[in-house]
Amino acid sequence: MTNTYDVILHADPVLKQVANPIGDIDADIQAQAEKMMNTMYETRGIGLAANQVNILNRMFVMDVDPTCWKYKNEGDQILQIESVHREGEDLTPNPLVMINPEIVKKSEQKSVYLEGCLSIPQQYAEVTRPAHVTVEYIDTDGNKQTWDASGLESHCVQHELDHLDGVLFIDYLSRLKRSTLIRKLEKFKKAEGLL
Ligand code: NI
Repeated sequence: MTNTYDVILHADPVLKQVANPIGDIDADIQAQAEKMMNTMYETRGIGLAANQVNILNRMFVMDVDPTCWKYKNEGDQILQIESVHREGEDLTPNPLVMINPEIVKKSEQKSVYLEGCLSIPQQYAEVTRPAHVTVEYIDTDGNKQTWDASGLESHCVQHELDHLDGVLFIDYLSRLKRSTLIRKLEKFKKAEGLL
């Protein structure tokens, strides 16, 4: 038996709910963090928020390899982020668990990246967000941490924090783009027997 959760798919209403702040970081919370981590690695995601496993706790896990992206364009307007695929290479896990995370600073400068989501499988769209953010959070030992994120890490941390507020990356798209993407998702779910 694997110690993983099932990932909740769009349009389950739990993905639109706001998660609750975590009080004591007890054994249950630590076990949940570990199980979420296993789920993220098994599904090959770079981030997973508690809403996505049907738990309304303000917690997410992420693991972005710092060498898996670069800026394609360093203009002063919008930084373009590009994935750098490294097929066949074993990545060293570098997991982060963020409890009660809060963005305390965001840059004026924006960046754009083709985002996806484990709850919206096989669908991608460009999302523009602040290029650099500072996030404060509590780690699984109960210590307060501060982290500066740029590039793909910045997109990931903002995408995951959005989940805890019931916001999905498709909410940033135009109505037309969003409905097209949702239609394709429904087709995919039907084809894969996920309905
Ligand atoms: Ni997501």
